[in-house]
Amino acid sequence: MIMMKKRVVALGLAFSLAIPASTGFAASSTSSVQDLLGMQEESLPNVKILATGGTIAGSAASNTATTGYTAGAIGVETLIDAVPELTDIATISGEQIANVGSPNIDTDVLLTLAKRVNVLLAQDDTDGIVITHGTDTLEETAFFLHMTVKSDKPVVVVGAMRPATAISADGPMNLYNAVKVAGAEKSVGKGVLVVLNDRIGSARMISKTNTTMLDTFQSEEYGFLGAIAGGEIHYYQEMLRKHTTETPFDVSELTELPQVDILYGYQNMPSYLFEAAAANGADGIVTAGSGNGSLSSIGSEVVKKVIEKGIPVVRASRVGNGIVTETSNGIAADSLNPQKARILLMLALTETDDPEVIEQYFNEF
Ligand code: SIN
Repeated sequence: MIMMKKRVVALGLAFSLAIPASTGFAASSTSSVQDLLGMQEESLPNVKILATGGTIAGSAASNTATTGYTAGAIGVETLIDAVPELTDIATISGEQIANVGSPNIDTDVLLTLAKRVNVLLAQDDTDGIVITHGTDTLEETAFFLHMTVKSDKPVVVVGAMRPATAISADGPMNLYNAVKVAGAEKSVGKGVLVVLNDRIGSARMISKTNTTMLDTFQSEEYGFLGAIAGGEIHYYQEMLRKHTTETPFDVSELTELPQVDILYGYQNMPSYLFEAAAANGADGIVTAGSGNGSLSSIGSEVVKKVIEKGIPVVRASRVGNGIVTETSNGIAADSLNPQKARILLMLALTETDDPEVIEQYFNEF
């Protein structure tokens, strides 16, 4: 249940506050006076903004520059101050977790973020969390949190494609929408959400699909959960795969994560990529194979050997959409893309090295 702080908002037209005592209203309670004046109590949720950097906090040399800028140049207080309208929809506070371009989000940041989100959401004075993040690896962090947050309260990950200094920067409206979604009772229990470009996606299904365009975040195969239109949140779908409180993953005591590498499949893929990963300490491997996760004959042979050495291999696809079906040679990634399959395999290996259990996670999460 979201606990919200009360504030009083005037909804009626302004008129004289002079109320004749003879009417009897002068002696009535404050709330009666508020009722008479058309004022009513509106609840404001407490939303925490955790900033990690990215283009939403990016600064360019000119206001027409939308590439070649510094991601993660602006601090969380500046981001919040740039959207004064946030205080109309939530009681806001900010924390700086990191300030980097998202390719530099590492294990430390992931674990710090997940632990901090869990601590904050366990407090009565937090109703929802917004995480500002670079778009390049946003889906990886969002899916990591989707698997590791232990609360039903809303968590929304947001980014922007244009730096804060650009004409028509998309960050301010994306941030406003993210706070609105994070503070909404109807967002409870939906898993970790991604909000950009007026759309609400599930961390499980959404992906960056275009290098530079504003509408890059898509949920092509399974659709968005909802949208923000006319200032209102509209939901149409539920995430049926297990997430947050339904997963076994507990990061509270973790200081590191297993090493999982992704190997890209292509015509005549050689075996030395697998050998290099194993030699460099990979605890697990995800392949981004062609089509339904297929690899060259050499690749398939070496996968068998890697599995025999006790290193689990998850077969995903480089296609970007669709389900990789079950295989006897490795674990199928189901509909997770390679970068999200890597996140799930890392987390799975914190719990078990039993391939059957890992396969079950891929079927259920
Ligand atoms: C990044 O991912 O940090 C840079 C790109 C972006 O945020 O859009």
